[in-house]
Amino acid sequence: MDVDSQKVEKLRNGIIPIYEPGLENIVAENSKLDNLHFTDDADEAVAFADIIFIAVGTPPDEDGSADLKYVLAVARDVGRRMEVRKTVITKSTVPVGTSDKVKAAIVEELTTRNKDLIIDVASNPEFLKEGAAVNDFMKPDRIVVGTDSDHVRKQMTELYAPFNRNSDRMIFMDIRAAELTKYAANAMLATKISFMNEIAILAEELGADVEQVRHGIGSDPRIGYQFIYPGIGYGGSCFPKDVQALQRTGGEHGLPMRILDAVEQVNAKQKLHLVNRVNQHYQGDIKGKTFALWGLSFKPKTDDMREAPSRQIMEALWEAGAKVQAYDPEAMEEVERIYGQHPGLLLTGTRDAALTGADALIICTEWQHFRAANFDALAETLSDKVIFDGRNMYEPSRVEAAGLTYYAIGRGE
Ligand code: UGA
Repeated sequence: MDVDSQKVEKLRNGIIPIYEPGLENIVAENSKLDNLHFTDDADEAVAFADIIFIAVGTPPDEDGSADLKYVLAVARDVGRRMEVRKTVITKSTVPVGTSDKVKAAIVEELTTRNKDLIIDVASNPEFLKEGAAVNDFMKPDRIVVGTDSDHVRKQMTELYAPFNRNSDRMIFMDIRAAELTKYAANAMLATKISFMNEIAILAEELGADVEQVRHGIGSDPRIGYQFIYPGIGYGGSCFPKDVQALQRTGGEHGLPMRILDAVEQVNAKQKLHLVNRVNQHYQGDIKGKTFALWGLSFKPKTDDMREAPSRQIMEALWEAGAKVQAYDPEAMEEVERIYGQHPGLLLTGTRDAALTGADALIICTEWQHFRAANFDALAETLSDKVIFDGRNMYEPSRVEAAGLTYYAIGRGE
């Protein structure tokens, strides 16, 4: 159920409004099997379901806290229509204590004759990554459920049984613990990234190669290889928003989240690190230069541009009087929607077309398609023979052998 009728209509016709590998097939298959229906009719949706998931957005408020108006509006919509006992589960990322508010909102809306209904609420945070959402959902590392009800426990065990076959991945806990688990997980991952980005900048200064350091520390299982890739800062709809919301929660309880303050500061700085390198290379004068830009989405395998570092990079280049010729395998429509016909932006149909007439290349997203680059051809095409790589895609010696100057993150000059 969605209030956006156009979106519902598209989904009914098998059109997926976002790019997410594998999603289209699942939707098509289950629609065909009659397992999946789309509606914009709340009466129909509430009457149909035993278990209702609230999965609406929780965008940041002006002050950084999570805006609960959509979540609570759904809770009220459900309460108003509840005639029999139903379970309401919060899937949206919500601050600790929200499930209590959801329950209160439902109870408030119950009609007089339904005042005695048992209301089961639970928290079931989602841990999937964009671009790998289907796989993450089908083969979860863990399924966290916060509940104080045995009824919900049984329901959720049954519901998730198909995804929980080989080993038990269900982790039941208190509602508040489940809500905090979601934020703590994202904040920890964001911390790993910012930590590594700070080490990368130091490595640059020291003439050490951060990629070697990454291998060196990742081999310790206590640290692990995941989420220690330095880059141009984390983006997307989750880390920036969730880090801020947790800072806010801490602040509200008189507990400044000092580590997260630093995580955020380092990230903000990191998003401009590559532009600083560009300016350094051109001694502050990039007016009239044309930059080819590969990759625009905040990470590969998605068309999502929310908080994408490419945006800040492009905007800084325009500010300094440069032009951008950009290509992304999936995000072009989204970029057009955001920037319209911007005079400083030319969107090209292919990776190679972005290079035509460009002075230098900047890489913002590590799409697989960019890995196999022809450096000799790049050296011929780029008039200033320079690559600024925000994702450490290539082996520096290989790029330099083609006569190109190569700037990466944390790998010296
Ligand atoms: C993130 C979490 O990884 C998911 O577990 C969580 O469910 C999701 O948020 C959410 O809260 O809904 P997502 O935002 O889709 O998932 O993307 P990530 O793969 O986590 O990447 C986030 C950002 O970190 C990207 O900009 C990526 O480029 C950056 N990143 C990631 C790095 O710079 N270095 C790394 O080593 C890993």
